[in-house]
Amino acid sequence: MELDPDEVSSMYRTLAGAVVPRPIAWVSTTSPDGVDNLAPYSFFNVAAVDPPILMFAPVDDDGSPEGLKDTPRNVRRTEEYVVNVVTEPVAEAMNETAATLPPGESEFDRAGVTRAESRVVAPPRVAESPVAFECSLRELVDLGGSTMVLGEVEWADLDDEVTTDGKLDVEKLDAVGRLSGSLYAATDDRFSMERPP
Ligand SMILES: Cc1cc2nc3c(=O)[nH]c(=O)nc-3n(C[C@H](O)[C@H](O)[C@H](O)COP(=O)(O)O)c2cc1C
Repeated sequence: MELDPDEVSSMYRTLAGAVVPRPIAWVSTTSPDGVDNLAPYSFFNVAAVDPPILMFAPVDDDGSPEGLKDTPRNVRRTEEYVVNVVTEPVAEAMNETAATLPPGESEFDRAGVTRAESRVVAPPRVAESPVAFECSLRELVDLGGSTMVLGEVEWADLDDEVTTDGKLDVEKLDAVGRLSGSLYAATDDRFSMERPP
């Protein structure tokens, strides 16, 4: 099978089904009115290490200038957010926060997620997430149907339970990745390969 993107109605299924598993940024923001928002974004990755930059991309093609989603709207206005890492114990709560709520209602309360005070940004982080990156907005890149949000990590919060000898231990983290549709992947089935010199 071959696909010409100009001839199919959407490339979503092919892109989201082939680029797997995708890490999930569980993004907390606070609106200018003080409502805490929380939502998952799996178009997410590391963009740079020095300076530390993360990217995520809200897909929002309704055509209105501000878009439909609260996360990019809050990021645009406040320029601060937290990327919380999703692990197996919080996977169901993360999924709950993908519900479309009116802007005045907080997904923290809806999903029973605990707010923890961030160190350097105003939005709270998720207390149940063992790793959180407090970010300041660096750049918004308009890609047409989506906006790529590039943010600099200003502070990293790591639970001691996921560290070994003072470093993050991926084998203790058990992060969850998104496949396609309602399918997810755990990260506790691992194998190792030595990298050639
Ligand atoms: C695991 C998961 C990953 C998601 N990834 C994205 C994504 O990368 N981009 C996007 O626009 N929406 C994504 N969504 C959908 C948003 O989370 C959903 O539209 C949500 O209501 C947006 O919330 P907000 O308006 O509070 O920002 C994802 C949903 C789930 C469950």
